[in-house]
Amino acid sequence: MSHSASASSASLGRRLRASLGPEVTEGSSVDQESEFRALLEAIHPQRMIEIGTRHGVSAALFAEYADEVTTIDIALSPDSYREWTGKVWAASGTAAKIRPFLAAGTNGKECNASKAAFLRDREFDFAFIDGSHITREVIFDFQCLRRCGCILFHDYKPEGRSFATCTNERYPGIAAFIDSLSPRAYLIGKHCSMMALWIAEDHPCRNRPETQAFLETLARPSRSPMAARADLFRLQLTGAWRRIGRTIGKRFGRK
Ligand SMILES: C[S@@+](CC[C@H](N)C(=O)[O-])C[C@H]1O[C@@H](n2cnc3c(N)ncnc32)[C@H](O)[C@@H]1O
Repeated sequence: MSHSASASSASLGRRLRASLGPEVTEGSSVDQESEFRALLEAIHPQRMIEIGTRHGVSAALFAEYADEVTTIDIALSPDSYREWTGKVWAASGTAAKIRPFLAAGTNGKECNASKAAFLRDREFDFAFIDGSHITREVIFDFQCLRRCGCILFHDYKPEGRSFATCTNERYPGIAAFIDSLSPRAYLIGKHCSMMALWIAEDHPCRNRPETQAFLETLARPSRSPMAARADLFRLQLTGAWRRIGRTIGKRFGRK
């Protein structure tokens, strides 16, 4: 049975840093632990999938709520990945609920093929996308997982005047993609470290009063889906021109 975390597990990040050292949470989204806990209590997932494991910290947090957490990485250094995830899942007592998968391949295309094949026949009720920060990779992950109907994007960081003081890196293409989705996403968290939640109209969690009450507290993107699609197209075109320019530059450079 899944369960809600007890009060004693209120700060997983702090506990792991105390037992395994400060590096354990580097690059982890666990600094948004309170936002995750509020969401997980409202949505109540049972079979979760995460893209982007790193040291396994967010997977351990999810395993406090879900019955089973599958987590995928492309792990450039598999030994370090295994060492960290082994320690984190043992220290957090979550190893029995976590199913790790390392995508096979030596480049992005092979890894994506491996990931897609792994995901093809598996069913999940909640997904967390926190792997690559390249727009087309996020879109690829979303397409692999769309049918699970409830997807949390770790990064919602558009350009814009309201973000001028924010030092976090911007991902305008990812934000434009999220804004283009139907039904419209919900925004979670603080200004500079915002996440976005997309839920299909027919996802069963929408029937839970706790989910409805939680969703009512959240903001929605201000840009219309049509405007977002136009922005996404413009950004993709600019990106494609840049790549073509770099390829031509390299060819001339070699001669
Ligand atoms: C930001 S870290 C994940 C942090 C983790 N979710 C947490 O909060 O503790 C990103 C991870 O995604 C992996 N990654 C990068 N691109 C990926 C892709 N296309 N598919 C799957 N994993 C990817 C990286 O190897 C890295 O371990």
